[in-house]
Amino acid sequence: TRLAVLYGGQSGEHEVSRRSAESILAGLDRERYHVTEVLIDRDGGWLVDGRAMPLPPALRVLRAQDVVFPALHGPYGEDGTVASLLEWLGVPYVGNGVFASAAGMDKGVTKRLLAAEGLRVSPGVTLRPGEDLAPANRLRLELPVFVKPARAGSSLGVVRVTDWADLPAALEQAREVDPKVLVEQGAVGREIDVAVLQHPDGRVQAGPPLEIRVTGTDFFDYGAKYDGGAIFDIPAPLDPATTEVLQDRAIRAFHALDCRGLLRVDFFLPAQGSAEPIVNEVNTFPGFTNASQFPQIWQQAGLGFATLLDILITGALV
Ligand code: DAL
Ligand code: MG
Repeated sequence: TRLAVLYGGQSGEHEVSRRSAESILAGLDRERYHVTEVLIDRDGGWLVDGRAMPLPPALRVLRAQDVVFPALHGPYGEDGTVASLLEWLGVPYVGNGVFASAAGMDKGVTKRLLAAEGLRVSPGVTLRPGEDLAPANRLRLELPVFVKPARAGSSLGVVRVTDWADLPAALEQAREVDPKVLVEQGAVGREIDVAVLQHPDGRVQAGPPLEIRVTGTDFFDYGAKYDGGAIFDIPAPLDPATTEVLQDRAIRAFHALDCRGLLRVDFFLPAQGSAEPIVNEVNTFPGFTNASQFPQIWQQAGLGFATLLDILITGALV
């Protein structure tokens, strides 16, 4: 099978994508896949197996593959733009399509779609470019709030605000990443991620919940994510009923966003025993680095990394 791994990209998560691709490239069975590496550099230039190439021939390389594995995070990669390109080229690709990618990239849109599905989300207000938080909306939100770029990942530009006086500075900081921002009431509870995987026969499976225990920071920020500032417990110590609820909600989120292949759904689980979990966000191409949750969850569930890759790739080819 001729397979191209497409990675890098122009988003703030360029480096994370490189690390995801590094694990994927190391994990692919080379007897089974003839692999081409396609890197999009930070300013949008393309490199095929390390050689700079203008866009048209680079796209011809992609079109000549049996399947493409997009390992991109963030805007211009995970947001449907690349899925759209691959649709036009007519080449099968791993993971989510145009709609799920675009919807899942925007935290405000995701929230509205999941709420419409009956899933619990934190109260939040989307501010379009130049817009301020109206006093009437401030009343709907309790401190602390999180100010988040609407379309970004890995917590880039996310600011925790504990005093309304700090809101303008937080908005400015988040808007350096995306002029559209979300002001969201901080969810209180244990932080739990659930990985969803679709098998080639169409069956959708949720993995064992993973609990994130952040060490030394206020929240699971960029540093905690990639510099070992967190401990993962897989499976999270939960009673079977709560595990079942989390897995059910994760699968409902997968379908609500019309996902394909994979999704990681990140929750906060309030302390009260039977409280409905709060969906914090989703990741239509979750991190695949050695430090990332998604591959570790499936490893724990008995699917090794190479097997996980085979499932995703085979799913793209049916
Ligand atoms: N956006 C990063 C890659 C993650 O959620 O894992
Ligand atoms: Mg994310």
